[in-house]
Amino acid sequence: MASLIPALSPQEYEKQLAAAAAVGWVREGMLLGLGTGTTAAHFITQLGEKVRNGLKVQGTATSLASEALARQVGIPLVEPRRGLTFDLAVDGADELDGQLRLIKGGGGALLREKVLETASRYLLVIADSSKVVPVLGRFPLPLEVVPFALPWVLDALEQLGGAPVLRMRKDDPAAPAYSDQKNLLVDCHFQQIAEPEWLATQLKTIPGIVEHGLFIGLAKAAVVIQGGVAQVLKPGEAARPAAEFAELP
Ligand code: A5P
Repeated sequence: MASLIPALSPQEYEKQLAAAAAVGWVREGMLLGLGTGTTAAHFITQLGEKVRNGLKVQGTATSLASEALARQVGIPLVEPRRGLTFDLAVDGADELDGQLRLIKGGGGALLREKVLETASRYLLVIADSSKVVPVLGRFPLPLEVVPFALPWVLDALEQLGGAPVLRMRKDDPAAPAYSDQKNLLVDCHFQQIAEPEWLATQLKTIPGIVEHGLFIGLAKAAVVIQGGVAQVLKPGEAARPAAEFAELP
């Protein structure tokens, strides 16, 4: 008889594998930054299982959606406060290159992600094989924008060659999508971002852009599935099997 449980797609399976490697490096007592997106959701779900089996950790989530999932699976949550630094943040990415420069924000959570991940001692990216690219930019670069500033932000982005598009709701394509902070989201189609550091600096000069989705110098390592195996990537280094690392790589 056919199973009633739907089989995971190969991509979902890769996300689950990458998440499992990350869960294996979580230690008792850690304070965790919990990412957002489908890959991070695998991590939160698997971590929840360990918590229900006795592992003591706490976390802060990078989105309302991840917060709800963490609550549902039993991970104790910590509110933002002065002096809070995370032992480890685990999150997905829309793209990553060999220097572990990232595009993030496909799920609209880039601002909280950047805040928490900047406050973390270790950012570990978990990703399926489709996310590794030689040059960033094919995935549209997300920006969080203050609604009042939108027209001028779009003009400035056009001048930078970003071909900006206001993100609309998936369930109502006539209505704009809003971030958890009630800001708008704009996706920029650069196609190739030859100099991510330069672009990040330019974006910071445009008033009304609250944050951009280029994460540079934040990720310490990534677990990426290659050939069905979890591999660890570190900036500028050759890939090594995740199984070689008993502790965080
Ligand atoms: C959320 O805003 C993003 O930064 C996600 O981390 C990114 O979009 C990856 O999402 P998936 O794991 O769903 O591909």
